[in-house]
Amino acid sequence: MLEKIRQVVKNAAEEGDWKYHIVPVASYAKKLARILKVDEEITELAALLHDIGRIKFGPENHEITGVPEAEKILKEHNYPQDVIDEVKHCIESHRGSKDIPPRTIIAKIVANADAMAHFDVFPVFFYLRSKDSSFEDAIKWAYEKLDHDWKKKLTLPEARKMMEEKYKAIKLILDSTRAYI
Ligand SMILES: [Fe+2]
Ligand SMILES: [Fe+2]
Repeated sequence: MLEKIRQVVKNAAEEGDWKYHIVPVASYAKKLARILKVDEEITELAALLHDIGRIKFGPENHEITGVPEAEKILKEHNYPQDVIDEVKHCIESHRGSKDIPPRTIIAKIVANADAMAHFDVFPVFFYLRSKDSSFEDAIKWAYEKLDHDWKKKLTLPEARKMMEEKYKAIKLILDSTRAYI
């Protein structure tokens, strides 16, 4: 069943988005689910679908546009309503906005895994940003993103522990580059 949802998301997403974002988010979400002893399948399902709004309709308000889209996909695959409701909450709360904070452990995992994935593929940000901005702007933007992920989005101690080394390594490189700007 999970494999079908995996295919739906993979087919809808751009290749880079799938490979460098959705796949690592799903992988970290599964790892955290195992550590925190919550349902691994529902957690992976929510991770696969967390950005479906962005994938289908663009980045703006994608935590809102993704909710009915995920519900439609899950209903088509006969998922029970309680699973659908959990996934919907994970999507609406995944951006860490104050209006809808993650209430469940699975939603917290998805929001954390979303940020964890950024640490794994950090150079992707420079590639994406450098298309329409200067190198200096790209560095500044990447630095703010790293800071926001580390300070605001990584709320689970287990997630922080897993990413600490990568965070420090990325920060070291960015700080050393910033000294020349
Ligand atoms: Fe997102
Ligand atoms: Fe995401």
